[in-house]
Amino acid sequence: MPMILVTGGAGYIGSHTVLQLLLAGYNVLAVDNFDNSSAVAISRVKELAGKLAKNFSFVELDLRNRAALEKVFTNQKFDAVIHFAGLKAVGESVQKPLLYFDNNLIGTIILFQVMVAHGCKKLVFSSSATVYGWPKEVPCTEEFPLSSTNPYGRTKLIIEEMCRDLYCADKNWKIILLRYFNPVGAHPSGFIGEDPRGIPNNLMPFVQQVAVGRLPSLTVFGNDYKTCDGTGVRDYIHVVDLAEGHIAALRKLDDPKIGCEVYNLGTGKGTSVLEMVKAFEQASGKKIPLAMGGRRPGDAEIVYASTKKAEKELNWKAKHDIDDMCRDQWNWASKNPYGYGRSGDSPK
Ligand code: NAD
Ligand code: WQD
Repeated sequence: MPMILVTGGAGYIGSHTVLQLLLAGYNVLAVDNFDNSSAVAISRVKELAGKLAKNFSFVELDLRNRAALEKVFTNQKFDAVIHFAGLKAVGESVQKPLLYFDNNLIGTIILFQVMVAHGCKKLVFSSSATVYGWPKEVPCTEEFPLSSTNPYGRTKLIIEEMCRDLYCADKNWKIILLRYFNPVGAHPSGFIGEDPRGIPNNLMPFVQQVAVGRLPSLTVFGNDYKTCDGTGVRDYIHVVDLAEGHIAALRKLDDPKIGCEVYNLGTGKGTSVLEMVKAFEQASGKKIPLAMGGRRPGDAEIVYASTKKAEKELNWKAKHDIDDMCRDQWNWASKNPYGYGRSGDSPK
């Protein structure tokens, strides 16, 4: 089976993808600097993978450490790279643009240079629906005009452009850019999930921390949008479906016709903030106290994906609905109210 390098493999989406890759029979080497993740995620993935954990290894490194990355590529030949590693907090990127440009852009350039030096030119990259900015209409198709409203989004746009340029210059590259919508939920075992540092920026990690009593209430950012109930609408996708989307993308990289292609990974369905909160309350049996607040600067009104291209060309479709996402989010939250901070459980 192919050997895959996963950057950012200890992170939220990375850890779930590493597990699905192992379960699908792939060999995986993951790297991460644990800037926004924990080594506990790696040991939990190994436990969940059981005997297949023998096909998994991990190296702690920062992608900007060229010598360390060179060593990994010298010791191991890779068939493809899935590149998750990056910083992703929109607000922080506005405060610290240079940190985001340094980490996300320099890290990616060094990765690509080392890949070229070792003859590995197959890549799956984590892009984001953020590149659609405030879409004029929905569903968002892959051909929509692209824009960015913050430095984080700009790093995604720049890396997408970098990938298109790489392919233009050298047709041996095979690149799939995956634009994720709103990944939520956790592995159904409840042993891996999202564990953001500090106060969460995103809706579901925030709701989860209210449910376990770490935060008093959820502030709803705007209830005067032109939507079913006035609150923002997004396309939430179960993280395991998203992980499976990466396996579909890896398979697509074997298509001789593939060059540099982009696919949305979403469900194609929009859900409002209040609908999401209600579904989570039902799944958890917990009441989520709400405070109505103003709109968050930069937030779009309605964003959801057209999933046609991924369904047709990747032969992939999200299977889980909002109730599944909330059930698995709560399972993770209730078993790990402090994320990986208080470990010791075993997935048995
Ligand atoms: P995450 O923060 O949980 O995972 C990213 C991982 O990369 C972390 O473990 C972090 O420690 C690591 N990392 C960061 N910089 C690194 C560096 N220089 N060297 C080595 N490791 C480094 O985030 P996630 O939610 O799993 O996101 C994964 C990717 O998907 C990111 O590129 C993100 O921008 C993108 N994405 C995420 C979402 C989302 O809502 N979660 C949506 C769209 C796109
Ligand atoms: C969802 C909805 C908020 C928190 C962000 C990034 C995007 C991508 C995914 C990486 C919105 C509302 C939220 C809260 C709230 N990440 N909300 N109270 O904004 O769609 O996208 O994550 O690429 O780049 O911008 O996701 O989870 O922050 O918000 O009312 O405390 O929940 O206004 O309508 P978003 P989100």
